[in-house]
Amino acid sequence: MSHLIAPSVLAADFANIQRDFEMINKSEADWFHIDVMDGVFVPNISFGMPVISAMKKHAKKPLDVHLMIVNPDQYIGTFKKIGADILTVHYEACTHLHRTLQAIKAEDMKAGVALNPHTPVHLLEDIINDIDLVCIMSVNPGFGGQSFIENTYDKVKQLKELINKKGASTLIEIDGGVNIHNAKALIDAGADVLVAGSFVFKSDKPEVTIQELKSV
Ligand code: DX5
Ligand code: ZN
Repeated sequence: MSHLIAPSVLAADFANIQRDFEMINKSEADWFHIDVMDGVFVPNISFGMPVISAMKKHAKKPLDVHLMIVNPDQYIGTFKKIGADILTVHYEACTHLHRTLQAIKAEDMKAGVALNPHTPVHLLEDIINDIDLVCIMSVNPGFGGQSFIENTYDKVKQLKELINKKGASTLIEIDGGVNIHNAKALIDAGADVLVAGSFVFKSDKPEVTIQELKSV
């Protein structure tokens, strides 16, 4: 499988969201990456359900929703209703992760788990076969435009080994500080999905930038 590109719409122009969604629809991007921040799990607030519903109307590709929130369980049904296709919760926010993942799958969504930079990959050993996607945070979550943490490469390799050892079909997604300079090394290490916010939307030609990331 060739790798997937998921532009993070956190870096889009919210006053021109339809225009930016149409650009992604036309581009070689595979998913829309949607960052939900609650001001508690992370020190920032992004946007909530009404905004995502409005975005969904313009999206012709799957919505990859990344929940940076405490107590995600209580909103799983709501995120399904407003159009999430992949729902990712944080390992650090879920006391009963196995139950949370089953609840996401029961709503017919793909279930993802995100790991903060300090959370080791081996903690997923007993749950990896239940996870459709692991999102390795390559920055501390909460803001776009931060610098990539170099330790990520080792984590990707360790996770790939764990997935192979357990015979799982989990995808590895990288989120934070992704650009054309680190994309190839990430894919070589085992990444399947690259999220990119600022690098796409702050470039002169976002559609070309997506194409460049896709053809790495
Ligand atoms: C960080 C978010 C990321 C962010 C990536 O908390 O989860 O998805 O939007 O943005 P860039 O690519 O600018 O680091
Ligand atoms: Zn994200």
